Amino acid sequence: MNEFLEFALEVAAEAAAIVRSGHEKPKRIEYKGDVDLVTETDRGAERAIVGRIRSRFPDHAIVAEEGSEGAPRGAKYCWYIDPLDGTTNFAHGYPCFCTSIALQENDAPLVGVVVNAVANETFTAVRGQGAHLNGKPIHVSPIPRLGESLVATGFPTHMRHNSANMDFYWGFTLRSHGVRRDGSAALDLCSVAAGRFEGFWEFGLNSWDTAAGTLIVREAGGRVTQLDGAEHRAGGPNILATNGLVHEEMRDLANEILAKVGPMKR
Ligand code: IPD
Ligand code: CA
Ligand code: CA
Repeated sequence: MNEFLEFALEVAAEAAAIVRSGHEKPKRIEYKGDVDLVTETDRGAERAIVGRIRSRFPDHAIVAEEGSEGAPRGAKYCWYIDPLDGTTNFAHGYPCFCTSIALQENDAPLVGVVVNAVANETFTAVRGQGAHLNGKPIHVSPIPRLGESLVATGFPTHMRHNSANMDFYWGFTLRSHGVRRDGSAALDLCSVAAGRFEGFWEFGLNSWDTAAGTLIVREAGGRVTQLDGAEHRAGGPNILATNGLVHEEMRDLANEILAKVGPMKR
């Protein structure tokens, strides 16, 4: 097995154990913004992951949600860590959250691991080697039309009043089997990869939210771009991830909605 994948899996399993045990205990919630939550579990899981990376790969850069760093940016390898994606769900005891770990080599995604500790699901991908769920290959769904699709989105925790996504939610709800809002972007992307959702879009996500999930979608045969069809890079303004077949239809509807609501808001 790829050395980096093996390491990422070990570290993600350790973090997932911290997350699982935190889920079973009372939580102390702090606020990073008006509705942007953080708990001791976010920080504890990040400390565990980052500690392991720093001691095994001291020359690798680290971008982690709660602020930990490794070697300076510009290093050949960079890890993108979301120790707990879905913190609001976690804080409320709603079992939909995960740990997301990705490694990029010279800015190109190399390894992605997303662990849903409660559901016992581990999604993995290595560039050029396909995507797997608990070791079995996964593939995006074969559904060709938006009208027969289940899709997903999420809403930013900041500037909610200024988000065009309310209009998107409305528009996509009327044109699909429905729009889910599960509260974990990394798991939403894995659900596209596993063929559970045909598509997912969101505005204003950070690099640590999408770095692992986008590789997993692409390796499962899906497509990831911005909503306007331009190349998506981790931390870009918005994301559209699909099974490939409904991509153009979703992009066209996005553009239709944007033309009605005006310039893209975040
Ligand atoms: C959040 C989740 C959520 C998305 C938010 C993210 P966090 O990450 O991925 O689904 O809608 O935009 O910030 O804060 O729970 O790690
Ligand atoms: Ca996140
Ligand atoms: Ca997080």
